[in-house]
Amino acid sequence: MAERVIPLYDQRAAALPAPRPSAPVAPDGRLLDRLQRPLRDLRISVTDRCNFRCSYCMPKEVFGKDYPYLPHADLLTFEEITRLARIFLAHGVRKIRLTGGEPLLRKHIERLIEMLAALRTVDGTPPELTLTTNGSLLARKARALRDAGLQRVTVSLDGLDDAVFQRMNDVGFPVAEVLDGIAAAQAAGLAPIKVNMVVKRGTNDDQIVPMARHFRGSGIVLRFIEYMDVGSSNGWCMDEVLPSAEVLARLQQAFALVPLEPGSPGETAERWGYAGADGRHDPALGEVGFISSVTQAFCRDCNRARLSTEGCLYLCLFAERGYDLRALLRGGASDAEIAASLAAIWGQRADRYSEIRATLPPETRRAARRIEMSYIGG
Ligand code: GTP
Ligand code: 5AD
Ligand code: SF4
Ligand code: SF4
Repeated sequence: MAERVIPLYDQRAAALPAPRPSAPVAPDGRLLDRLQRPLRDLRISVTDRCNFRCSYCMPKEVFGKDYPYLPHADLLTFEEITRLARIFLAHGVRKIRLTGGEPLLRKHIERLIEMLAALRTVDGTPPELTLTTNGSLLARKARALRDAGLQRVTVSLDGLDDAVFQRMNDVGFPVAEVLDGIAAAQAAGLAPIKVNMVVKRGTNDDQIVPMARHFRGSGIVLRFIEYMDVGSSNGWCMDEVLPSAEVLARLQQAFALVPLEPGSPGETAERWGYAGADGRHDPALGEVGFISSVTQAFCRDCNRARLSTEGCLYLCLFAERGYDLRALLRGGASDAEIAASLAAIWGQRADRYSEIRATLPPETRRAARRIEMSYIGG
């Protein structure tokens, strides 16, 4: 039996001060980190709350009714988020993803989407604007999100069987309502829709083939995610990880699949397409993706930065500390000063946790005070 340690630690107190370099930086979108990786993708967490209690993310024992969520005054306002996003876009960001917790729990999120949709990248084009949701409020909100300027959504769904799905979300939420949300998103044109399934061996792995069968030919891209050791509260152990190679092997017993080229540099998922009768990829049948951060790290091209609900900038999903940009915002720093700070932070980035995970001694990994996914978003 693997040891299950669930340390509680308030990472929010551990924010690093953002650097204050005096030299200005040109807004030419060409920031590179120490491993020559550009900044392209900004993930913004808009709330640390969620109405689900997925055991791999917000286990009930830790995120109980007394859990100290951030008070409202600590959250970045929509104006603050938009101001930071504008600066990030000037320095290379092309894609903005809203996350949480559950982002649709943030009041008036449509207003924020409108504000972000009006921004431009260095090329003068609108940013790619997307959102990751558990789907519970999507049936109600899909149309308004689309009207506000959201382009697409990614929906988390860990099974089609109600008993299995409810074991995963741990709040008794029914599958049918998430499927209604996905249908509403499709009807609203929030495409291409992706569905993320975190696979836990022994908990929901019997859902792999039924999920694939359900979404095959629907225009929706199903992606299988290896259960990760993110955060410090989910009691992760390798025994519960089902490597993507095994997921693929199980799918291949049911369907003919062919490997596809990566869609864009730095992409998280490896793509496989359903083959038609001629053995070639049939676009009408669609594709699946594998996100294999545990068995096949993809840090080499990682171009993602994460902004927490209260305005700390994290350079890796597995970071222990973030940089306090809110202090700059609320301390009267100019856009040029914030940009110079961002350039200094990105310029010294060398994070590649997933690549070095296997080389870390287990004690070090267990002792890490890593930030929770519900606080910085997937
Ligand atoms: P699109 O393909 O553009 O929709 O986005 P994406 O691939 O970035 O997808 P998404 O945000 O849906 O991420 C999917 C999942 O991949 C997340 O929920 C995480 O579990 C995992 N993931 C995303 N980014 C990273 C990353 O930088 N490092 C690691 N280790 N895992 C990541
Ligand atoms: N392992 C893998 N993915 C995770 N997510 C949250 N916690 C984990 C974890 N421990 C991802 C899932 C979910 C999204 C919101 O965050 O993809 O869909
Ligand atoms: Fe909520 Fe998503 Fe975390 Fe599940 S994975 S608890 S839906 S934020
Ligand atoms: Fe990027 Fe860190 Fe994920 Fe590697 S582990 S891909 S550096 S966020």
